Amino acid sequence: MSDRQSDPLLAWRKEFPILEHTTYMVSHSLGAMPRGAAAAVAEFAEMWATRGIRAWEEGWWNMPVTLGDLIADIIGAPRGQVVMHQNVSICQTIVASCFDWNGKRNKLVTDGLNFPSNDYIYHGLERQGARIRSVVSADGMTLPLEDMLAVIDEETQLVSVSHVAFRSSFVQDLAAITQRAHEVGAMVIADLYQSAGIVPVDVTTLGVDFATGGSVKWLCGGPGAGYLYVRPDLVEKLRPAATGWAAHARPFEFEGGPIEFADDMHRFLNGTPNVPAMYSARAGYEIVREIGVEAIRAKSLRQTQRLIDLADEAGFTVRTQRDAGRRGGVVILDVPNGREVTAELIRREVLVDYRPGAGIRIAPHFYSLDEELDRTIAEIQKIVAGR
Ligand SMILES: Cc1ncc(COP(=O)(O)O)c(C=O)c1O
Repeated sequence: MSDRQSDPLLAWRKEFPILEHTTYMVSHSLGAMPRGAAAAVAEFAEMWATRGIRAWEEGWWNMPVTLGDLIADIIGAPRGQVVMHQNVSICQTIVASCFDWNGKRNKLVTDGLNFPSNDYIYHGLERQGARIRSVVSADGMTLPLEDMLAVIDEETQLVSVSHVAFRSSFVQDLAAITQRAHEVGAMVIADLYQSAGIVPVDVTTLGVDFATGGSVKWLCGGPGAGYLYVRPDLVEKLRPAATGWAAHARPFEFEGGPIEFADDMHRFLNGTPNVPAMYSARAGYEIVREIGVEAIRAKSLRQTQRLIDLADEAGFTVRTQRDAGRRGGVVILDVPNGREVTAELIRREVLVDYRPGAGIRIAPHFYSLDEELDRTIAEIQKIVAGR
């Protein structure tokens, strides 16, 4: 029986217009747009046009929290514990600004697979006294757990972990790292960008202190909508220096002087929220939530394994983890002239991407057909063979 008959997730294909004319294997970079996103953007425009200034109190002002509730459902957070921002870089900056980096506990441990933005932000803290300890990945793709655990000590304030590494799709052991951090009194910030929506994650069970992520990739939410989770019991103890009037207990009193923080997640906001991006993000979140990440993961593991098998048969070098438990949603192939092969694939309507030091990144999602995987590998074979 072909997957067209047996795979219930394929019923969602009709919601994603781009699937009609492309082989879409790039959801780790930009998830396909659901039809509902276009409708939601039109709804935003209609609200602005017809409700005008009243739109703020009729939903816009609270959207960073109400939309965040959809993310909360996906990442296992309680409702009200996730706020929306423009991107991960801002969320990470806000968290970093909650700490005093002058004291004895001034070490920030970051994994060597972290996204560059995060590294840039952490090194910026050095001028406030922070000591940054980046745990080097020998192969640029993986990181032994012991290497991370070994450097987390009593002088560590914050441990930053990319749950699934962007370059290699390597899954890190967030539970073990969090446990170690908490044993020595350090906190953990997890970047979930490459896991939420494709690999199940439950921030409550894991006990992570902060989590950040965005919508561009597996959540099919488009650009401009990042999110920040803060562990409930920490909220009232933290005073982010990177702040703004939306974080004030009474923002519409416009009081000057030092801020009096809101006592809930609003305290992690700053200025005017990115309302249109939040409208466009909603449909993707709703679909992912409805399907459930467990079902998405089961399909992803089956399809990434199929890609690995096909690549092995074709004699390509596979740079992804073969151990399913350590493999995220992406299969990476190192073929000769990978950058040029990628450009030719895109010309042939097979959408993938290329990362130097890794290779061609191929990412099926819940809407992918098995025959699209076969086509992707077959086209690479043809291109490599000069056809
Ligand atoms: C793991 C990870 N973190 C962060 C980012 C980027 O974050 P932003 O552009 O939202 O700041 C990406 C990819 O763009 C990513 O893969």
